[in-house]
Amino acid sequence: MGIKEDGILEELDEQRSQTAPGLLSNQEKDRLIERAFLGLYRWYVARSQATRNWNPDLDIDWRNLRTDHSEKMNRILEGFFAVEQYVPDYVLTLLKVIRRSHGRSHFHIRWGSEEEKHADLWENALIFSRFRTPQWIEDYKHTLREKAWELPWDNPLHMIFYTVIQERATQVNYLNTGLIAQGKSEEPDFANDVDPVLAQASQIIAIDEAAHYNFFLEGARLFLYYYPARSLEALQDVIQYFAMPAGDLIPNYDRFAEIVARAGIYGPREHLKDVIDIALKNLGVQGRAALRRGINRIREVPTMEGGMRETAIFDLLDVDGVEKKVQKLFGRIRDYEKQVGFDEIDPTIFVPAR
Ligand SMILES: [Fe+2]
Ligand SMILES: [Fe+2]
Repeated sequence: MGIKEDGILEELDEQRSQTAPGLLSNQEKDRLIERAFLGLYRWYVARSQATRNWNPDLDIDWRNLRTDHSEKMNRILEGFFAVEQYVPDYVLTLLKVIRRSHGRSHFHIRWGSEEEKHADLWENALIFSRFRTPQWIEDYKHTLREKAWELPWDNPLHMIFYTVIQERATQVNYLNTGLIAQGKSEEPDFANDVDPVLAQASQIIAIDEAAHYNFFLEGARLFLYYYPARSLEALQDVIQYFAMPAGDLIPNYDRFAEIVARAGIYGPREHLKDVIDIALKNLGVQGRAALRRGINRIREVPTMEGGMRETAIFDLLDVDGVEKKVQKLFGRIRDYEKQVGFDEIDPTIFVPAR
Protein backbone atom coordinates (compact mmCIF):
# COMPACT_ATOMS: atom_id res chain seq x y z
CA MET A 1 0.00 0.00 0.00
CA GLY A 2 2.97 2.35 -0.26
CA ILE A 3 3.55 5.08 -2.81
CA LYS A 4 3.64 3.72 -6.36
CA GLU A 5 7.21 3.18 -7.45
CA ASP A 6 7.02 4.05 -11.13
CA GLY A 7 7.17 7.77 -10.50
CA ILE A 8 4.74 8.82 -13.26
CA LEU A 9 2.83 11.12 -10.98
CA GLU A 10 5.94 12.58 -9.41
CA GLU A 11 7.18 13.23 -12.93
CA LEU A 12 3.92 14.92 -13.77
CA ASP A 13 4.06 17.21 -10.75
CA GLU A 14 7.60 18.10 -11.77
CA GLN A 15 6.72 18.66 -15.43
CA ARG A 16 4.20 21.23 -14.35
CA SER A 17 6.99 23.23 -12.81
CA GLN A 18 9.44 22.79 -15.67
CA THR A 19 7.28 23.36 -18.75
CA ALA A 20 5.56 26.54 -17.69
CA PRO A 21 7.96 29.36 -16.91
CA GLY A 22 7.51 31.03 -13.57
CA LEU A 23 6.08 27.95 -11.86
CA LEU A 24 7.49 26.73 -8.61
CA SER A 25 10.32 24.28 -8.04
CA ASN A 26 9.64 21.33 -5.74
CA GLN A 27 11.95 22.89 -3.19
CA GLU A 28 9.89 26.05 -3.18
CA LYS A 29 6.64 24.06 -2.93
CA ASP A 30 8.02 22.12 0.01
CA ARG A 31 9.05 25.35 1.69
CA LEU A 32 5.57 26.85 1.25
CA ILE A 33 3.88 23.70 2.55
CA GLU A 34 6.14 23.69 5.60
CA ARG A 35 5.59 27.39 6.31
CA ALA A 36 1.86 26.92 6.11
CA PHE A 37 1.94 23.88 8.42
CA LEU A 38 4.04 25.79 10.91
CA GLY A 39 1.77 28.84 10.84
CA LEU A 40 -1.35 26.70 11.06
CA TYR A 41 0.10 24.72 13.97
CA ARG A 42 0.88 27.90 15.93
CA TRP A 43 -2.59 29.29 15.26
CA TYR A 44 -4.06 25.92 16.31
CA VAL A 45 -2.24 25.81 19.66
CA ALA A 46 -3.44 29.30 20.58
CA ARG A 47 -7.00 28.41 19.66
CA SER A 48 -6.87 25.05 21.39
CA GLN A 49 -5.66 26.66 24.62
CA ALA A 50 -8.26 29.42 24.46
CA THR A 51 -11.32 27.38 23.50
CA ARG A 52 -10.85 23.65 24.17
CA ASN A 53 -8.81 23.46 27.35
CA TRP A 54 -11.11 20.96 29.08
CA ASN A 55 -10.25 18.30 31.62
CA PRO A 56 -11.58 14.73 31.35
CA ASP A 57 -11.92 14.32 35.14
CA LEU A 58 -13.07 17.74 36.32
CA ASP A 59 -15.24 19.08 33.53
CA ILE A 60 -17.75 16.24 33.43
CA ASP A 61 -20.21 15.41 36.19
CA TRP A 62 -19.22 11.75 36.37
CA ARG A 63 -21.13 10.99 39.58
CA ASN A 64 -24.33 11.63 37.64
CA LEU A 65 -23.54 9.38 34.67
CA ARG A 66 -26.32 6.80 34.37
CA THR A 67 -25.44 3.34 35.62
CA ASP A 68 -28.27 1.57 33.76
CA HIS A 69 -27.30 2.06 30.13
CA SER A 70 -28.25 -0.64 27.64
CA GLU A 71 -25.76 -3.43 27.10
CA LYS A 72 -25.24 -2.14 23.56
CA MET A 73 -24.43 1.38 24.68
CA ASN A 74 -21.99 0.01 27.23
CA ARG A 75 -20.29 -2.03 24.49
CA ILE A 76 -20.04 1.09 22.35
CA LEU A 77 -18.35 3.07 25.13
CA GLU A 78 -15.99 0.17 25.71
CA GLY A 79 -15.11 0.14 21.99
CA PHE A 80 -14.40 3.89 21.96
CA PHE A 81 -12.21 3.42 25.02
CA ALA A 82 -10.28 0.62 23.31
CA VAL A 83 -9.63 2.59 20.11
CA GLU A 84 -8.40 5.67 22.00
CA GLN A 85 -6.20 3.44 24.20
CA TYR A 86 -3.59 3.17 21.41
CA VAL A 87 -2.73 6.87 21.54
CA PRO A 88 0.95 6.24 22.40
CA ASP A 89 1.27 4.24 19.15
CA TYR A 90 -0.66 6.81 17.13
CA VAL A 91 1.79 9.47 18.29
CA LEU A 92 5.02 7.48 18.20
CA THR A 93 4.66 5.89 14.78
CA LEU A 94 3.61 8.93 12.79
CA LEU A 95 5.97 11.23 14.65
CA LYS A 96 8.89 9.21 13.28
CA VAL A 97 7.67 9.73 9.72
CA ILE A 98 6.97 13.48 9.98
CA ARG A 99 9.72 14.49 12.40
CA ARG A 100 11.53 16.60 9.80
CA SER A 101 8.55 18.93 9.56
CA HIS A 102 8.46 21.34 12.49
CA GLY A 103 4.82 22.26 11.86
CA ARG A 104 3.53 18.73 11.41
CA SER A 105 5.54 17.05 14.17
CA HIS A 106 4.85 19.68 16.82
CA PHE A 107 1.20 19.65 15.88
CA HIS A 108 1.23 15.89 16.24
CA ILE A 109 2.45 16.13 19.82
CA ARG A 110 -0.31 18.62 20.60
CA TRP A 111 -2.82 16.35 18.83
CA GLY A 112 -1.62 13.44 20.96
CA SER A 113 -2.14 15.47 24.13
CA GLU A 114 -5.75 16.00 23.08
CA GLU A 115 -6.29 12.35 22.10
CA GLU A 116 -4.84 11.25 25.44
CA LYS A 117 -7.72 13.08 27.14
CA HIS A 118 -10.18 11.16 24.99
CA ALA A 119 -8.78 7.84 26.24
CA ASP A 120 -9.10 9.06 29.83
CA LEU A 121 -12.61 10.37 29.28
CA TRP A 122 -13.86 7.03 27.94
CA GLU A 123 -12.14 5.22 30.78
CA ASN A 124 -14.08 7.42 33.21
CA ALA A 125 -17.27 6.59 31.33
CA LEU A 126 -16.57 2.86 31.77
CA ILE A 127 -15.76 3.27 35.46
CA PHE A 128 -18.73 5.49 36.37
CA SER A 129 -21.27 3.57 34.28
CA ARG A 130 -20.36 0.65 36.57
CA PHE A 131 -20.38 -1.54 33.46
CA ARG A 132 -16.85 -2.70 34.20
CA THR A 133 -14.96 -2.98 37.46
CA PRO A 134 -11.69 -1.10 37.90
CA GLN A 135 -9.90 -4.47 37.95
CA TRP A 136 -11.50 -5.53 34.67
CA ILE A 137 -10.49 -2.24 33.06
CA GLU A 138 -6.92 -2.63 34.27
CA ASP A 139 -6.71 -6.14 32.82
CA TYR A 140 -8.30 -4.99 29.58
CA LYS A 141 -5.79 -2.16 29.18
CA HIS A 142 -3.03 -4.66 29.67
CA THR A 143 -4.50 -6.92 26.97
CA LEU A 144 -4.94 -4.03 24.54
CA ARG A 145 -1.42 -2.75 25.03
CA GLU A 146 0.16 -6.12 24.44
CA LYS A 147 -0.25 -5.34 20.77
CA ALA A 148 1.00 -2.21 19.06
CA TRP A 149 -0.71 -0.21 16.34
CA GLU A 150 1.28 0.26 13.16
CA LEU A 151 0.98 2.87 10.45
CA PRO A 152 -1.30 1.91 7.56
CA TRP A 153 1.05 3.93 5.28
CA ASP A 154 4.62 4.85 6.08
CA ASN A 155 4.81 8.14 4.22
CA PRO A 156 3.67 11.67 5.15
CA LEU A 157 1.54 12.19 2.03
CA HIS A 158 -0.71 9.14 2.44
CA MET A 159 -0.94 9.76 6.18
CA ILE A 160 -2.28 13.30 5.79
CA PHE A 161 -5.20 11.87 3.81
CA TYR A 162 -5.60 8.94 6.21
CA THR A 163 -5.89 11.33 9.15
CA VAL A 164 -8.46 13.47 7.29
CA ILE A 165 -10.73 10.44 6.81
CA GLN A 166 -10.04 8.95 10.25
CA GLU A 167 -10.76 12.18 12.17
CA ARG A 168 -13.97 12.76 10.26
CA ALA A 169 -15.04 9.15 10.95
CA THR A 170 -14.28 9.55 14.65
CA GLN A 171 -16.20 12.80 14.79
CA VAL A 172 -19.22 11.12 13.17
CA ASN A 173 -19.01 8.29 15.74
CA TYR A 174 -19.09 10.69 18.68
CA LEU A 175 -21.69 13.04 17.22
CA ASN A 176 -24.10 10.18 16.59
CA THR A 177 -23.49 8.72 20.06
CA GLY A 178 -24.26 12.18 21.44
CA LEU A 179 -27.55 12.17 19.51
CA ILE A 180 -28.55 8.90 21.19
CA ALA A 181 -27.66 10.35 24.60
CA GLN A 182 -29.78 13.41 23.80
CA GLY A 183 -32.76 11.17 23.01
CA LYS A 184 -32.65 11.97 19.29
CA SER A 185 -32.17 8.42 18.03
CA GLU A 186 -35.08 6.47 16.61
CA GLU A 187 -33.47 3.11 17.34
CA PRO A 188 -35.67 1.30 19.90
CA ASP A 189 -32.62 -0.49 21.34
CA PHE A 190 -31.34 2.83 22.67
CA ALA A 191 -34.58 4.27 23.99
CA ASN A 192 -33.30 4.01 27.56
CA ASP A 193 -29.89 5.60 26.89
CA VAL A 194 -30.82 9.25 27.27
CA ASP A 195 -28.16 10.73 29.52
CA PRO A 196 -27.13 14.41 29.73
CA VAL A 197 -23.71 13.51 31.15
CA LEU A 198 -22.94 11.14 28.28
CA ALA A 199 -24.32 13.74 25.84
CA GLN A 200 -21.90 16.33 27.20
CA ALA A 201 -18.95 13.92 27.12
CA SER A 202 -19.66 12.96 23.49
CA GLN A 203 -20.08 16.59 22.51
CA ILE A 204 -16.81 17.72 24.10
CA ILE A 205 -14.83 15.05 22.25
CA ALA A 206 -16.68 15.57 18.98
CA ILE A 207 -15.61 19.23 19.05
CA ASP A 208 -11.95 18.15 19.44
CA GLU A 209 -12.32 15.71 16.56
CA ALA A 210 -13.77 18.48 14.39
CA ALA A 211 -10.73 20.66 15.18
CA HIS A 212 -8.40 17.76 14.28
CA TYR A 213 -10.28 17.12 11.06
CA ASN A 214 -9.95 20.77 10.11
CA PHE A 215 -6.22 20.86 10.73
CA PHE A 216 -5.61 17.77 8.59
CA LEU A 217 -8.00 19.06 5.93
CA GLU A 218 -6.05 22.30 5.60
CA GLY A 219 -2.82 20.31 5.41
CA ALA A 220 -4.23 17.92 2.80
CA ARG A 221 -5.34 20.87 0.66
CA LEU A 222 -1.77 22.21 0.66
CA PHE A 223 -0.55 18.94 -0.89
CA LEU A 224 -3.45 18.83 -3.35
CA TYR A 225 -2.70 22.38 -4.41
CA TYR A 226 1.07 22.11 -4.81
CA TYR A 227 1.30 18.40 -5.80
CA PRO A 228 -2.10 17.54 -7.29
CA ALA A 229 -1.26 14.37 -9.27
CA ARG A 230 0.45 12.39 -6.55
CA SER A 231 -1.93 13.73 -3.90
CA LEU A 232 -5.01 12.60 -5.81
CA GLU A 233 -3.54 9.15 -6.14
CA ALA A 234 -2.63 8.98 -2.43
CA LEU A 235 -6.19 10.05 -1.61
CA GLN A 236 -7.62 7.34 -3.86
CA ASP A 237 -5.37 4.71 -2.20
CA VAL A 238 -6.44 5.81 1.27
CA ILE A 239 -10.13 5.70 0.39
CA GLN A 240 -9.77 2.28 -1.22
CA TYR A 241 -7.95 0.61 1.67
CA PHE A 242 -9.23 2.65 4.63
CA ALA A 243 -9.91 0.88 7.94
CA MET A 244 -10.50 2.45 11.34
CA PRO A 245 -7.41 2.33 13.56
CA ALA A 246 -6.81 -0.67 15.85
CA GLY A 247 -9.76 -2.67 14.48
CA ASP A 248 -7.39 -5.60 13.99
CA LEU A 249 -5.94 -5.30 17.53
CA ILE A 250 -9.03 -5.02 19.71
CA PRO A 251 -10.61 -8.31 20.90
CA ASN A 252 -14.13 -8.84 19.46
CA TYR A 253 -13.86 -5.68 17.38
CA ASP A 254 -16.28 -7.10 14.80
CA ARG A 255 -19.01 -7.24 17.41
CA PHE A 256 -18.41 -3.59 18.31
CA ALA A 257 -18.37 -2.60 14.62
CA GLU A 258 -21.68 -4.39 14.12
CA ILE A 259 -23.30 -2.62 17.08
CA VAL A 260 -22.21 0.86 15.99
CA ALA A 261 -23.33 0.13 12.42
CA ARG A 262 -26.78 -1.13 13.48
CA ALA A 263 -27.15 1.80 15.85
CA GLY A 264 -26.76 4.17 12.90
CA ILE A 265 -23.65 5.58 14.56
CA TYR A 266 -21.05 4.50 12.02
CA GLY A 267 -21.43 1.78 9.42
CA PRO A 268 -20.71 1.42 5.70
CA ARG A 269 -23.50 3.86 4.88
CA GLU A 270 -22.25 6.59 7.24
CA HIS A 271 -18.68 5.93 6.10
CA LEU A 272 -19.52 6.69 2.48
CA LYS A 273 -22.13 9.40 2.94
CA ASP A 274 -20.99 11.29 6.05
CA VAL A 275 -17.25 10.65 5.90
CA ILE A 276 -15.88 10.08 2.38
CA ASP A 277 -18.38 12.22 0.47
CA ILE A 278 -18.01 15.10 2.93
CA ALA A 279 -14.20 14.87 2.97
CA LEU A 280 -14.05 14.82 -0.85
CA LYS A 281 -16.33 17.84 -1.01
CA ASN A 282 -14.21 19.71 1.54
CA LEU A 283 -11.07 18.81 -0.41
CA GLY A 284 -12.52 20.07 -3.70
CA VAL A 285 -12.32 16.59 -5.25
CA GLN A 286 -15.02 15.08 -7.48
CA GLY A 287 -16.94 12.11 -6.10
CA ARG A 288 -15.64 8.64 -5.31
CA ALA A 289 -16.30 7.05 -8.71
CA ALA A 290 -14.89 10.01 -10.62
CA LEU A 291 -11.73 9.90 -8.52
CA ARG A 292 -11.21 6.19 -9.17
CA ARG A 293 -11.71 6.59 -12.92
CA GLY A 294 -9.76 9.84 -13.05
CA ILE A 295 -6.65 8.38 -11.46
CA ASN A 296 -6.52 5.79 -14.23
CA ARG A 297 -6.90 8.51 -16.84
CA ILE A 298 -4.08 10.56 -15.34
CA ARG A 299 -1.87 7.49 -15.44
CA GLU A 300 -2.85 6.36 -18.95
CA VAL A 301 -2.36 9.60 -20.87
CA PRO A 302 1.02 9.43 -22.68
CA THR A 303 3.89 11.29 -21.02
CA MET A 304 4.38 13.57 -24.04
CA GLU A 305 0.87 14.89 -23.62
CA GLY A 306 1.43 16.71 -20.36
CA GLY A 307 -1.45 19.03 -21.18
CA MET A 308 -3.92 16.15 -21.37
CA ARG A 309 -2.88 14.98 -17.95
CA GLU A 310 -3.41 18.48 -16.67
CA THR A 311 -6.93 18.30 -18.09
CA ALA A 312 -7.50 15.02 -16.26
CA ILE A 313 -6.43 16.69 -13.01
CA PHE A 314 -8.69 19.67 -13.62
CA ASP A 315 -11.60 17.28 -14.19
CA LEU A 316 -11.02 15.73 -10.78
CA LEU A 317 -9.97 18.66 -8.67
CA ASP A 318 -11.62 22.05 -8.26
CA VAL A 319 -8.26 23.80 -8.52
CA ASP A 320 -9.76 27.30 -8.26
CA GLY A 321 -11.70 26.34 -5.15
CA VAL A 322 -8.67 24.70 -3.54
CA GLU A 323 -6.56 27.74 -4.37
CA LYS A 324 -9.06 30.03 -2.66
CA LYS A 325 -9.03 27.84 0.45
CA VAL A 326 -5.21 27.73 0.51
CA GLN A 327 -5.08 31.50 0.10
CA LYS A 328 -7.55 31.86 2.93
CA LEU A 329 -5.34 29.67 5.12
CA PHE A 330 -2.33 31.87 4.40
CA GLY A 331 -4.55 34.86 5.27
CA ARG A 332 -5.44 33.33 8.62
CA ILE A 333 -1.75 32.69 9.31
CA ARG A 334 -0.92 36.26 8.32
CA ASP A 335 -3.51 37.62 10.77
CA TYR A 336 -2.14 35.42 13.54
CA GLU A 337 1.42 36.52 12.80
CA LYS A 338 0.32 40.16 12.95
CA GLN A 339 -1.16 39.53 16.37
CA VAL A 340 2.21 38.25 17.59
CA GLY A 341 4.48 40.58 15.61
CA PHE A 342 6.09 37.87 13.43
CA ASP A 343 4.86 39.78 10.36
CA GLU A 344 7.45 42.49 10.95
CA ILE A 345 10.31 39.99 10.92
CA ASP A 346 9.50 36.97 8.75
CA PRO A 347 5.92 36.89 7.45
CA THR A 348 4.44 33.76 5.85
CA ILE A 349 3.54 34.76 2.30
CA PHE A 350 1.32 32.87 -0.12
CA VAL A 351 2.82 32.03 -3.51
CA PRO A 352 0.48 30.64 -6.17
CA ALA A 353 1.34 27.23 -7.62
CA ARG A 354 0.52 28.36 -11.18
FE1 LIG B 1 -10.01 11.12 19.73
FE1 LIG C 1 -8.92 13.12 16.88
